[in-house]
Amino acid sequence: MIRVAAVGDLHFDRKSQNRLAEHFLGLESKADLFLLAGDLTQTGHPEEMRVLAEDLRTCPIPIVAVLGNHDYHSDQVQQVIQILEEARVTVLEGSAIVFELKGQSIGVAGAKGFGGGFIGACGSDFGEPEMKAFMRHSKSSARKFETAVRDLHTDYKIALLHYSPTAQTLIGERKEIYPFLGSYSLAEAIDYGKADICFHGHAHAGVERGETPGGCPVRNVAQPVIRHAFNIYTLDRPQLPKPMP
Ligand SMILES: [Fe+2]
Ligand SMILES: [Fe+2]
Repeated sequence: MIRVAAVGDLHFDRKSQNRLAEHFLGLESKADLFLLAGDLTQTGHPEEMRVLAEDLRTCPIPIVAVLGNHDYHSDQVQQVIQILEEARVTVLEGSAIVFELKGQSIGVAGAKGFGGGFIGACGSDFGEPEMKAFMRHSKSSARKFETAVRDLHTDYKIALLHYSPTAQTLIGERKEIYPFLGSYSLAEAIDYGKADICFHGHAHAGVERGETPGGCPVRNVAQPVIRHAFNIYTLDRPQLPKPMP
């Protein structure tokens, strides 16, 4: 059984020193892998990421992260990624990493994702250049993410996003902003890529549980939703029936 700790939307700022360090210390007794679902900082300033990186140094297990929209705000993405990498955090964007844990291969494909909306209430690649650019970015980032998921050939495939692939985990958010909280294209990527579970953040007022149209479990681990330093999830496929003798 693989245990995954996951949280998003930590929104660290310059005054967040030691906010979570004591929770990360000794995490190996609770989890095998730690996933961070974006919005790690408040404004994407390197100083804010340095504060989080210092807290993460107490974490003894592999950490995988995607960035969120807040982490892009200061236009210093390369610097904040470098700070995370120096703290031994793997940062994914349309890419994947494979771990061997307890004799099983675990693949994590990650991307920030983007908005766009959900079937029946989504943007379209039509009209003004700005609208076309918005939807083309949504589709192209989802396609890159799909390739990362699809190319994994591991015992378990985890999809890690910031934006949501389903409206089901947005319940509680204002419907008017759903198109800025996620995109159905991300669910298509998860289902076509055959991921086993998806974690995302971004929807602070949403709910934890949902699933894609293809039946992949989706967990919104935004910290304001789960109200803990992280949640623990177990990857434990039901045993296949034994063949008859
Ligand atoms: Fe957030
Ligand atoms: Fe966000």
